[in-house]
Amino acid sequence: MKIAVLGTGYVGLSTGVCLSQIGHQVTCLDINERKINQLRQGISPIYEPNLEELLTSNMAAGRLQFTTSQPEALADAEIIIIAVGTPQGDDGAADLTYLVQAAKEITSYITQETIIVIKSTVPVGTNAVVKKLIEDRTGTTVKMVSNPEFLRQGSAIEDTMKADRIIIGSENELAARKIEEMYQPLNVPVIVTSTKSAEMIKYASNAFLATKISYINEMANLCEAVGANVADVARGMGKDKRIGEAFLNAGIGYGGSCFPKDVKALLHTAEVNGVEFPLLKETIAINERQREWLVAKALKRFGHLSGKKIAMLGLAFKPETDDMREAPSIPISAALSKWGAEVIAYDPVATENAKKLLGDSIKYAGSIAEAVYEADAVFIVTEWNEIKNQDLVEMIRNMKEPIIFDGRNCFSEDEIRACSAIEYYPIGKPSIII
Ligand SMILES: NC(=O)c1ccc[n+]([C@@H]2O[C@H](COP(=O)([O-])OP(=O)(O)OC[C@H]3O[C@@H](n4cnc5c(N)ncnc54)[C@H](O)[C@@H]3O)[C@@H](O)[C@H]2O)c1
Repeated sequence: MKIAVLGTGYVGLSTGVCLSQIGHQVTCLDINERKINQLRQGISPIYEPNLEELLTSNMAAGRLQFTTSQPEALADAEIIIIAVGTPQGDDGAADLTYLVQAAKEITSYITQETIIVIKSTVPVGTNAVVKKLIEDRTGTTVKMVSNPEFLRQGSAIEDTMKADRIIIGSENELAARKIEEMYQPLNVPVIVTSTKSAEMIKYASNAFLATKISYINEMANLCEAVGANVADVARGMGKDKRIGEAFLNAGIGYGGSCFPKDVKALLHTAEVNGVEFPLLKETIAINERQREWLVAKALKRFGHLSGKKIAMLGLAFKPETDDMREAPSIPISAALSKWGAEVIAYDPVATENAKKLLGDSIKYAGSIAEAVYEADAVFIVTEWNEIKNQDLVEMIRNMKEPIIFDGRNCFSEDEIRACSAIEYYPIGKPSIII
């Protein structure tokens, strides 16, 4: 099939690459010339495992092109997939500016046969609004399909190639069948629903996962208060198939480009429809509180943080990505600076993106060893393998004081006890002081 993908961000690029990998002819269109120039040279502008290999091999096979030219991408596309950003607006609702702009741009190239797929995360009713907008402009009936995306940054390719499910929402049976056919080589279960249900499935899923995280984080705080171990509690809970093991790692809260904005957007949808949803409000409030956890612990331990040198290990909102959007490292470094601490951070891949957001409000190190050198304490913020697998004895050797506030529970009790002197403050587990 001949497919155009609008937007070459985490979702659009991964989708375009994977669709070409299963044999489709894909042209990816972006308004960002720098990105397209990089992509044309086979360089991925984002960090995702295996993305660049698939990108270059499918370009070489002639199945994958990149362009900033609308006619080039759209003129004879059978399917147009919109995967542009839908960031959070000032009122918490999804900001649909990019989506509406993209919809306007494609109108001149649409025929009665073209299928328009909205893959961006959009509030219930958006597909209908876009359909009307295009139909008003073209005078043609258009075929719309809602096809929300569930990939996770850091495993975007694997999640696309081996998705748990594909959601296809449409009022047009032929269009739904065609999109099912497009994905057929992936051999993934497909659920066909109404457009509104498909739009809602995306928000319902993300808000549920965010709520699961906030639940285990509140549980962690209770475990700390009563002397239980939240990791054991989560293991015991997760073995129950009705609960499941995923998203039960207590930590410093969720971040990233999706959960924070999607929970707020769903709450906004509830509010404008006159529906109370206090559970979502609490999910958000717990998450905000949890981000303060490491700083609160450090304040309790030191009494003040003025002049303290804090090594922050990890900046990205999660491992295996360079994405800094809504990363807990942002409020944590701001709070530390506010309390007068000096922050020196290390991240294996997100440092350049972090610099754009945090500027010179903190310092950046080129290695873990450089960051922790003569530090008064370490904050573990992102559980990169490099950070989890480091030799703890070696790491604390050059610290001023061997004090670790672990926001991701990276180390086992055995690893901690192998140190001759250490203060270790995990989340939801008893502290260890040797
Ligand atoms: N990132 C994720 O993990 C993830 C997962 C599932 C769903 N989503 C959703 O998918 C959508 C895209 O997310 P993302 O993280 O890939 O966004 P992103 O910000 O990384 O990328 C969006 C891209 O769209 C481009 N763009 C904007 N307007 C355009 C236009 N008119 N024509 C062509 N390109 C245009 C931008 O230049 C940018 O490259 C969002 O709705 C998001 O909520 C994201």
